[in-house]
Amino acid sequence: MSLLEVNQLDVRFALRRGDVKALRDVSFTLDRGERLGIVGESGAGKSVAAFSLLNLIAKPGYIAGGSIRFDGQELIGMRDRHLRQIRGNRISMIFQDPMMTLNPVLSIGEQMVECLKAHRRIGRREARAIALRKLEQVHIPSPEARLDQYPHELSGGMRQRVIIAIALLLDPDIIIADEPTTALDVTIQAEIMDLLLELCEKHNVGLILITHDLGVVSQVTQRMLVMYAGRVIEQGPTREIINDPQHPYTQGLMNALPQMATPGSRLNQIPGSMPSLDNLPSGCAFHPRCGFTQRPDGSERTACRSEVPGFVASGNCQAACHMVAEMQDQERIPAQETSR
Ligand SMILES: Nc1ncnc2c1ncn2[C@@H]1O[C@H](COP(=O)(O)OP(=O)(O)OP(=O)(O)O)[C@@H](O)[C@H]1O
Ligand SMILES: [Mg+2]
Repeated sequence: MSLLEVNQLDVRFALRRGDVKALRDVSFTLDRGERLGIVGESGAGKSVAAFSLLNLIAKPGYIAGGSIRFDGQELIGMRDRHLRQIRGNRISMIFQDPMMTLNPVLSIGEQMVECLKAHRRIGRREARAIALRKLEQVHIPSPEARLDQYPHELSGGMRQRVIIAIALLLDPDIIIADEPTTALDVTIQAEIMDLLLELCEKHNVGLILITHDLGVVSQVTQRMLVMYAGRVIEQGPTREIINDPQHPYTQGLMNALPQMATPGSRLNQIPGSMPSLDNLPSGCAFHPRCGFTQRPDGSERTACRSEVPGFVASGNCQAACHMVAEMQDQERIPAQETSR
């Protein structure tokens, strides 16, 4: 049994014009101490996935189906009082904007002490000592003085270090980090990412890292999910997917990386844009942008337009694509014929 098991998660937003299906049939697992990356274009559903894991989807959003099991307990439908013991305590979250976590009118120390006291029966002095230790762990210079400072007195990089210290405060099993470095200067991004990786490894904390940056995913995570229009379309060991992406969308993301372009030429962006979730194309949601809906002989693969593709295994990876399924069938047939 994995520490976290998400099965067929279905999340919708009830809007006046109808339900928006923000997540469809999302399934994945996370083992203790494992690091999982979630990538995909803007609007693919990455943040909705992160928020729904902690039941933080705000109305009109709701979880319409599926299961989220953490350490053997079902989180969907769990009472808020119980859920609060898990949220922030055993699973913590780092957001893109530090000010979503930090309260501008409380000092860093006060916020950390309050957070500890909310979850543990400890006195103020002991809580302050733990807070100080956590600030030391995130390598903040003169941590003692920082405790009495307010968020606005810190630089962006220092604020994100404080956020990481807060995320680690209660020794969680999992940290969900949603674009934890995008608000920072490029020079500081790598430092913060290294720090997060170092601390997760050292304390055996599982990490769900949401990012646009395939480079970061390949450096930090062991497994990854690629999302498109609310679905997972490819998943598996990060190295295998980066080296040999199966799904045409993942291939497109890889080709769009600056290092894949010839210097001086334009980047190889995937043509078109992701569909709106309340108006999804039929069949495979990626088919209008896909360069592989026709076979090499020019005939059309009609399933791309008419059927939602299921997952097919390829090595240790899985991709939801009719073309991949068909190619595998073709490889299998000649092998069977020769063995006759
Ligand atoms: N409050 C909301 N009301 C209605 N629809 C919403 C709401 N929040 C999210 N959605 C829908 O869910 C989709 C996925 O949003 P989400 O924020 O998860 O995208 P994302 O992958 O995190 O994108 P980004 O990379 O820009 O952060 C949105 O495109 C939108 O259709
Ligand atoms: Mg997001």
